[in-house]
Amino acid sequence: MFSYMSYMLTAVAALLVTCDALCKCPGIPGLFGIPGLPTRDGLKGQSHLSGLPGSLYTEVCNILDLKRRLSRLEGVLALNGKIIEVGEKILASNGKEVDFPSALESCEEAGGTLATPTNEEENKAVLGIVKQYNRYAYLGIKESETSGQFMYMNGIPLNYTKWHPHEPNGKGSEKCVEMYTDGTWNDRRCNLYRLTICEF
Ligand code: GAL
Ligand code: CA
Repeated sequence: MFSYMSYMLTAVAALLVTCDALCKCPGIPGLFGIPGLPTRDGLKGQSHLSGLPGSLYTEVCNILDLKRRLSRLEGVLALNGKIIEVGEKILASNGKEVDFPSALESCEEAGGTLATPTNEEENKAVLGIVKQYNRYAYLGIKESETSGQFMYMNGIPLNYTKWHPHEPNGKGSEKCVEMYTDGTWNDRRCNLYRLTICEF
C-alpha cells in the first residue's frame, strides 16, 4: 500500500514538473498558450502531454490554472495592502480592536488563527500591520498553567520570543500577549481591546 502510494505520488509529481515546463494548457500562457486556441488535439506531436489520458490532462491543466489564478489574487491583495505574505504565511487584519477571545474567534471563523510570530521575519511582518493601524495587537500566545511560561495556542512552548525589557512580569495575572508598536511583546490581561491580526 505504502509503495503504491509513493509510486503514485512520484508519478504525479513528475507529471506536474514536466507539465510546468512543457505542457500547453488552453488559456495558460506558454509556447502555445494563446487563450482559447490550442487544444490537446491540436497539439498532437508537439505537446509532451499529448499522450496522456484526456481526463488527466484536463486535471493537470485545471490545477495549473487554479495556481495561476490564486497567485494573481494574492498579488492584487498584497498590492492593495490587504495582506502581507511572509514565508508560507499570509497575515491580514480586519482593523477591529476586541478582547482576546473575540479576536481569536474571528480569525478562526475566517479559517486562520491569531498572528503568531515564530521568528524575526514574521515578527517584523506582524509589526508592519501594528504600525499601519498604530494599535497594539494580541498575539496567538497564551500563558500556561505554570505562570511565567508562555506557549502557542496548541500548547507547544515558544521557540522564539521578543519580550520587552522586564516582561513578562504578570506572574500568572496577565495570560495574553500584546505586541507594542516597536514590535516587542508584553504579557497583558486578555479582556482589553486590541487590534485583531490573523494568520492563514
Ligand atoms: C504593568 C502591566 C504590564 C506592563 C507594565 C509595564 O502595569 O500590567 O503588563 O505593561 O505595566 O510597565
Ligand atoms: Ca506585562
